[in-house]
Amino acid sequence: MNRDVIIALDFKDGATALSFLDKFTDEKPFVKIGMELFYAEGPSIVKAVKERGHKVFLDLKLHDIPNTVKGGMRSLSSLGADIVNVHAAGTIDMMKAALEGVMREDGTRPLVIAVTQLTSTSEERMQKELLINASINDTIVHYAKNAKEAGLDGIVCSPLEAGMVKEAVGKDFLTVTPGVRFADGDIGDQVRVTTPAKAKEIGTDYIVVGRPITKAEDPVAAYRHCMADFAE
Ligand code: C5P
Repeated sequence: MNRDVIIALDFKDGATALSFLDKFTDEKPFVKIGMELFYAEGPSIVKAVKERGHKVFLDLKLHDIPNTVKGGMRSLSSLGADIVNVHAAGTIDMMKAALEGVMREDGTRPLVIAVTQLTSTSEERMQKELLINASINDTIVHYAKNAKEAGLDGIVCSPLEAGMVKEAVGKDFLTVTPGVRFADGDIGDQVRVTTPAKAKEIGTDYIVVGRPITKAEDPVAAYRHCMADFAE
């Protein structure tokens, strides 16, 4: 198991993100580049962060018709990301197309994972607004099975759901889990949250932590706190 903490670099531009990373002099955290930073800076930010020696989860959550997702993944595959993702709601065909598109000429590819239900979505809103007539847990397990059938490497879900996903789909199927908060921390817009220690107990592979680290008074100390509770 590769248990690790991934820091969500949700910053407005590359200069802010890189000066945040400058604080880390003794370690090279695994980082996540999402839409805010990628849309501001484009592919160069992925290359710059990779050149500094960080592993990168490129969290762009592709969701479109299969042919478009395949082309999008083909464009992303050369950036050197270690993990990329799609929305499982795009169907099994779309996930298969993503996998085809992301394959590099040398036969390597990043891990491809699928978002099941965003950790900001409650069961009530999923049922009322998305008209999904099932429990959130059943939906997540079903989407995870679809992702596995498509040949993907894992899913994104809340750490609270990682145990049941592994039980249903297999323990080698990766779970990457945002929605992590310190016991005394602010939840913000997240709904399905837990602590790094509890996430470890449940058995998820990676936790994605944004604001509890990026907005901390001492981000390096907050990162080390997460690593100590989750990864060590
Ligand atoms: O600041 P916070 O710890 O809430 O950041 C969580 C990160 O994980 C954000 O970048 C968010 O976009 C991402 N994410 C999520 N829920 C998902 C997938 C990704 O919160 N299901």
